[in-house]
Amino acid sequence: MGLLAVDAPGIDWSGARVLVRADLNVPLDGETITDDSRLQASMPTIRYLLDAGAAVAVCSHLGRPKGERVPGLSLAPCATRMSEVLGKPVELLADCVGPEVAARIAALGPGDVVMLENLRFHAGEEANDPAFAQALASGFTHYVNDAFGAAHRAHASTEGVAHLLPSRAGLLLAREVEVLDGLLSHPAHPFVAVLGGSKVSDKLPLIESLLTRCDRVLVGGAMCFTFLAALGDPVGKSLHEGPEAQEMARALLATATQKNCLLQLPVDILVADRFDASAAVQVVPSDAIGDEWMGVDIGPATSATYREAIMSARTVFWNGPMGAFEIAPFAEGTRTIAEAMAESDAATVAGGGDSGAALVEFGLADRLTHCSTGGGASLEMLEGNVLPGVAALPQEESS
Ligand code: 3PG
Repeated sequence: MGLLAVDAPGIDWSGARVLVRADLNVPLDGETITDDSRLQASMPTIRYLLDAGAAVAVCSHLGRPKGERVPGLSLAPCATRMSEVLGKPVELLADCVGPEVAARIAALGPGDVVMLENLRFHAGEEANDPAFAQALASGFTHYVNDAFGAAHRAHASTEGVAHLLPSRAGLLLAREVEVLDGLLSHPAHPFVAVLGGSKVSDKLPLIESLLTRCDRVLVGGAMCFTFLAALGDPVGKSLHEGPEAQEMARALLATATQKNCLLQLPVDILVADRFDASAAVQVVPSDAIGDEWMGVDIGPATSATYREAIMSARTVFWNGPMGAFEIAPFAEGTRTIAEAMAESDAATVAGGGDSGAALVEFGLADRLTHCSTGGGASLEMLEGNVLPGVAALPQEESS
């Protein structure tokens, strides 16, 4: 059973006026979009609807303006970029609700596309206020949710409005759910997860979920120092969490044994004398980090072991960098994982956030089976949670 997507039979889109919720929460440097992957990922659905003769109004949040109109969080850069990508004007309307917006929506013809201004300029969006959802739906014949990255939020544009209009999943959202659901329900084994990032405590439910599903979980990133500290190893000045998280780490190691999952920690670490590209560095065994040193990446022996595990797996999920990859001398471990993911014959899935950014930076994102556009949303799905934005959409009838 899957979601009913825009391309499922049952709706004649010709002449429809469709509200499309996309996730255009792109990284910005001033008014410049530094990575337009999310915008590009939403284009197939928009193109599909326009080609089918619908008029489309794209809506999204950008940043966290908390109900205030923050000029620096206008969707103007996204409207400009979408115009370039589509090769036709995409006008940004001054707001996302109200009489002027309603008049513009009513005047749209087949193949027309506009963008609504940042949804989070209204407090009603995050509050999932029914009146705001009603105002958002006003003037539209249909609603399409393609914002997988925001599907873990029960907001008016992701959840409330789905109950007010005939609704469909966008092509991106449907694919994200299908792939991530496949990892949960029928992954091919060996199933290997590679986990990095800074905190064990942030990812506790995810790690617990993966330990019950995977054959091996490979740990890197700053979170490995919390595990090493939990085992009594010295971690010097490495970023690590305190006694409570170390207790969690010990419990996770015990769960892994109980579930017959191999939870692997690095055997060697690249350490630096400071957090800087010109720092002095050396590779040390992971149980021998000196007092004055900080771990900044997994070491070469660990990289080789993790690479081998990825190459011999049939399913791989990756979330979180192995080190401080934004600083070139500390990027090798993360690069090794990214390259192994790209080269492996396994079904390879990356869970958005920083690992997605690393794949984009290394030019490898399109070499994976799937690189999720959702950070928080993909992790919540893999924790086994039902996402409110997904639950609100219609499912295919089971035969
Ligand atoms: C994201 O960037 O993960 C999504 O766009 C959701 O954004 P949010 O965390 O501000 O809700």
